[in-house]
Amino acid sequence: MTGISEQPPREPGSVRFVQYNGVRTGAHSGPNVTPHQIDLVQHGMRRLAPHAAFFARNFYAALFALDPALRPVFHGDLAQQGVRLVHMLQRAVDGLGHLEALAPTLHALGRRHVHYGVRRYDFETVGHALMAALVRQPDAAPDAPTRAAWRAAYDCLAREIERGAAAGDDPASCLQDAWPARRVA
Ligand code: HEM
Repeated sequence: MTGISEQPPREPGSVRFVQYNGVRTGAHSGPNVTPHQIDLVQHGMRRLAPHAAFFARNFYAALFALDPALRPVFHGDLAQQGVRLVHMLQRAVDGLGHLEALAPTLHALGRRHVHYGVRRYDFETVGHALMAALVRQPDAAPDAPTRAAWRAAYDCLAREIERGAAAGDDPASCLQDAWPARRVA
């Protein structure tokens, strides 16, 4: 197991996607997601769930527009894959407040992603596609603080998944700085 490798993007010059169809998808956030941001994302996920198929279609459209070379990496039916993605996102978002418990699932997901041909760099592209799809939700388009919360939450989950892909078993959480009051020891 070699983990997700750091390689140049498939398309030269496509390192940073900060704009997609006029929508700013943001840059990677800092390392932490706060309890308030977790609330925002969980609330946003509840609003998104009834529109899961629409969200998934927008997500893949954005993903393949941002990096067309990713299309052949997906072999299965995209509608089914989209449903699985939304289920996993739902589970991950529900577990954000207890990331230690969720970490083994995310690490296993990361290990499977190595076999899917995913590279570390692709997580950034997926993050931008996720944001692009989120802002297209008809009744659930997130406001600026909620978008920032999604970005932070995605980065946090992606880091755990990448950790698993790198075959690390360390369940250390990037949430650890979110509750300074607990770090009394
Ligand atoms: C937070 C990040 C992500 C989550 C929650 C997620 C979730 C999932 C889930 C639940 C599956 C279904 C299969 C399984 O459970 O192993 C899956 C499959 C897959 N994912 Fe992800 N994923 C993430 C990031 C990525 C990234 C960055 C890529 C890179 C393009 C990617 C590409 C794929 C591919 C290629 C498959 C297999 C689908 C097929 O063969 O058609 N995923 N993902």
